[in-house]
Amino acid sequence: MTHSEAPAAIHAAIIGWGKCLPPAVITNGDLATFLETDDAWIVSRTGMQERRISHVPLGDLIHVAAARALACAGVEAAALDLIVVGSTLGDEICPNVSSGTQKRLGATKAAVMDVNTACTSFLYGLSTATALIRTGVVRTALVVGAEAPSPYMDWDNRNVAVLFGDGCGAVVLQASPREEGLLAERLGCYGDARSILDIRGVGARYANQGIPGGYTSWNFDGQEIFRKAVVGMAQASQEALAKRGLTIGDVDLVVPHQANRRIIDAVGKRVGVDPSRVFVNVHRYGNMSAATVPVALVEALEEGRVKPGATLLLPAFGGGLTWCAHVVRWGRRVTPLGTSDVELAPCDRTGLEIVNDLRARRSIYHRAAAPFIEAAHQLLGEPAS
Ligand code: ACO
Repeated sequence: MTHSEAPAAIHAAIIGWGKCLPPAVITNGDLATFLETDDAWIVSRTGMQERRISHVPLGDLIHVAAARALACAGVEAAALDLIVVGSTLGDEICPNVSSGTQKRLGATKAAVMDVNTACTSFLYGLSTATALIRTGVVRTALVVGAEAPSPYMDWDNRNVAVLFGDGCGAVVLQASPREEGLLAERLGCYGDARSILDIRGVGARYANQGIPGGYTSWNFDGQEIFRKAVVGMAQASQEALAKRGLTIGDVDLVVPHQANRRIIDAVGKRVGVDPSRVFVNVHRYGNMSAATVPVALVEALEEGRVKPGATLLLPAFGGGLTWCAHVVRWGRRVTPLGTSDVELAPCDRTGLEIVNDLRARRSIYHRAAAPFIEAAHQLLGEPAS
């Protein structure tokens, strides 16, 4: 290399992918056994038919998905330089979730970080890991999108309880001289609207108000979220494509965040893509928050919808309200190099049994916490909300 030559650009190719969905299913009919709702309402308003509920902690789902992604890549855990776990409601805050993932995988060389931008966490994590690979800080990274909101869910609130499911997806990135992986992204946030998607009861702010940890309530302005999600995802998509001089006509497949079938359709219409080029699996899993995009990506590959060299567009939004869109160039390989033998522990309960156990536990906890909250309210002389 002479002094006038720039060093060759490093890209971050996606070389492995894996998912883990817990086996227990919750149907719309199951939800209607304890909520005032019905299959017709849920299907017509959201497109959701069923979702999964986890019988194990989130860390177990992450371990299985990560092991599958590593086997798919043909990469040993010991070769990982970085683990990024994107999640909103992880198993723990300190120590973080990604350190647990490092330990479970035996990835002793890896730096770890958790990223929380709610439902966009996987994609923000993809940006972070890609940037660290491009700048030469790390060479091989695992990026996880994981969410199991069920233990915190406001199960008796039909506005939110029907919308969510548990699951996990992961990808392995590796430095490559070929222009693969992330081509461009646009990241943003409507911070002024942060209160329209609000999970109360997790965080120091609530401890300061005398509300015990885990005393959660979910407060969503569904229609406003819907409107902002459509505008944010569509605008981010157009701007990310424009950064590379691309148009929607150059995109082979859109793999969007799966929060609502109608949101996906509205974004598709706004950006002008034919529905045949949009991947949808929200009917199977509901909204798995940070896990929706990586799980959809894995299933698009499994179904042969991602061709070698394909250009993908991944738009998403989440609490905050964060929004983003990522343009990805797929590599040559669309099939796994290997499989993993890491599996979840067997599940001996139905989805409805698991949910009813969670509801019973939540009800006991809320009853026990109520006098404590009232006492704190009186002591502090301010409303405990
Ligand atoms: N079953 C039956 N009725 C219901 C249910 C239910 N599960 N949930 C709400 N309703 C009722 C409400 O009580 C309300 O009744 P009211 O008019 O008597 O007060 C009525 O249905 C609301 O109807 P719409 O306003 O027509 O419902 P809409 O078409 O807006 O759909 C929905 C609601 C699905 C929540 C939609 O607004 C939406 O998808 N919003 C965004 C999604 C969202 O918030 N996702 C979570 C975001 S997390 C993330 O992904 C970042």
